[in-house]
Amino acid sequence: MISTLLSRLHHGPDGAPTHRLAYGADYNPEQWPREVWEEDVRLMREAGVNIVSLGIFSWARLQPGPDTWDFAWLDEVMDLLHAHGVGVDLATATASPPPWLTTAHPEILPVTDRGETLWPGARQHWRPTSPVFREHALRLVRELAARYAGHPALVAWHVNNELGCHNVYDYSDDAARAFRDWLRSRYGTTDALNHAWGTAFWSQRYSDWEQVLPPRLAASHPNPTQQLDFKRFSSDALKDHLLAERGILRELTPGVPVTTNFMVMPGTKGMNYADWAGEVDFVANDHYVVPGPRDRDELSFSANLTSGIAGGRPWFLMEHSTSAVNWQPVNRAKRPGELARDSLTHVAHGADAVCFFQWRQSVAGAEKYHSAMVPHAGPDSDVFRAVTALGDTLKALAPVAGSEREPAEVGILFDWESWWASEQDSHPTSLLDYHREALDWYSALLSLGIRADVVPTGAGLSRHRVLIAPVLHMVPAALAKDLTRYAEQGGHLVTTYFSGVVDENDHVWLGGHPGALRELLGIRVEEFGPLPAGQSVELDGAGAGTLWTDQIEVTGERTEVLARYRTGTHAGRPAVTRRSTDGGSASYVSTRLGADGLAALLPRLLEPAGVSSELPAAVRGSVEATVRRGPGGRFLFLVNRTDETVTVPGVAGEVLLGDGSGDGDEVVLAPRAVAVLRTPGD
Ligand code: GLA
Ligand code: GLA
Repeated sequence: MISTLLSRLHHGPDGAPTHRLAYGADYNPEQWPREVWEEDVRLMREAGVNIVSLGIFSWARLQPGPDTWDFAWLDEVMDLLHAHGVGVDLATATASPPPWLTTAHPEILPVTDRGETLWPGARQHWRPTSPVFREHALRLVRELAARYAGHPALVAWHVNNELGCHNVYDYSDDAARAFRDWLRSRYGTTDALNHAWGTAFWSQRYSDWEQVLPPRLAASHPNPTQQLDFKRFSSDALKDHLLAERGILRELTPGVPVTTNFMVMPGTKGMNYADWAGEVDFVANDHYVVPGPRDRDELSFSANLTSGIAGGRPWFLMEHSTSAVNWQPVNRAKRPGELARDSLTHVAHGADAVCFFQWRQSVAGAEKYHSAMVPHAGPDSDVFRAVTALGDTLKALAPVAGSEREPAEVGILFDWESWWASEQDSHPTSLLDYHREALDWYSALLSLGIRADVVPTGAGLSRHRVLIAPVLHMVPAALAKDLTRYAEQGGHLVTTYFSGVVDENDHVWLGGHPGALRELLGIRVEEFGPLPAGQSVELDGAGAGTLWTDQIEVTGERTEVLARYRTGTHAGRPAVTRRSTDGGSASYVSTRLGADGLAALLPRLLEPAGVSSELPAAVRGSVEATVRRGPGGRFLFLVNRTDETVTVPGVAGEVLLGDGSGDGDEVVLAPRAVAVLRTPGD
């Protein structure tokens, strides 16, 4: 639990735990001479920093050779931080193996699907399944855990770093062996494997486990279920590394919470974090804004989904940036106010810690143009002043610490298996983007001022009056049953094109699409009608669709057509349908309407559920509202998404952050500002 970390972190003068949000950064003191460390801790105090992640890339420094160790510098840093009231989220330092290790054991290096070796020289050049790497990594973890077990600065363990950021897919011989073991335990027999993989197709039948390989570069499309299982396996292989490190940490330092930093971001889909979340003592996430027309929505979506993965409990923002990053084609600096607004949007969605990569901007190395809390310009800088101001803000928000998110009426289902399966090759279209579709729905709800919880599959369906499941492509029988029960018991399900099409083996449900949900939706699709890029079709009173269309036949007695295609191959046929169930409904949207089109359609989809906006019409879309609730009260966060001043009428409460006395009934939000009110309520 993050509360264990927070209570280890904050002790009042009498030694009793105090309630505060955590604030800090990755700290890489090994890049700096000793004198700078003194200035670091002084500035950390000034900025209100109370936690750092230490030693993430320190392996080569901590273990200069196979049997030599150098902990003296780390002892000193730990002591210094502790003396200045800064807690340590200590990394296990296994993220980047040292040159002596890769020279002695090149067999730990990852291999691509084309058989190319990924050489040392950057970082994360290790195979998740290498027994040699595992042995060396765990030896380091054991040394660290034994040495710092009783250190008063230690508040949490940071396993490795961004597991799978660069090495999720390894096609080496180690991977091949481990993949076979994984398949053997999933399927038991080659017959079961042959069935699941549909190997009657293209003469792929296996007669012995030794014949099975990862989906290496092949002459044509590799077997889809082999590809899917390799994705599942690769996520599991990294999770297994996490568990191996965690095992040692729990053995040697019971009571110290263990985490690892996830990357809940659109471009990172290899790790099934919904499946990993139960293995960490608190969820931690890294997020970087990729500037674009919907970057604010995407940040909010990521924070929201992280909260969903964490089961609505508080989580830890382990990394984001104070300003520019260094890894986009053009790296934009943040504008005034954005540092705080980005951070506080994460807090609005349940973060109890706000941390950056990194504390002090590097002089050398690949990330020297990546911003930090102390920039190249030094503390006399706008960035450091914004950092210090945020430290003060987080102190003022102390009562929020420990509160959970208050469930919204609308849920958006986010499903890793459907993400993987829907975007595989040899499909009706290669233009489908699972994450973008989910974000479209989220953006539409944001623009209407309707709160939604993004939740992973398996989080329990009944919590939300409305459940939106965009592109829920893979629907095993059990999930189909759950969704049916949900709608038959009064829930309102909304799903889209290419949903309910395949089972867990990626085998098509027969009899017409969407096989798994056909009866529930009361429709039958005989053929898919994907659209070429740039082509759209018009709908009656529901805007225009792109990407996809379906040839829909209404089969259910209680199914009504909410919109029809007006142009295109399916002109005159249904485009959006809704079947009424006992007190609930099941709706289907057969084309990509985009955020604006969905915003226009949503009021009709939500109407039977009686869900509407909680925000006054004048500020919908300009302001994002979230609610956290805990022992310290009920907290309303209002985020100004615009560059204008926005006045939110009709809100009252104790102002923890923002302008206004709170006893009136309006809150004035400066451009990009965030307000937090403790509102009446149980
Ligand atoms: C990731 C890594 C950090 C750093 C940042 C830069 O989040 O964990 O070490 O490379 O990216 O944005
Ligand atoms: C070729 C092949 C067939 C099939 C089709 C698909 O004609 O011979 O086996 O793959 O392409 O278009």
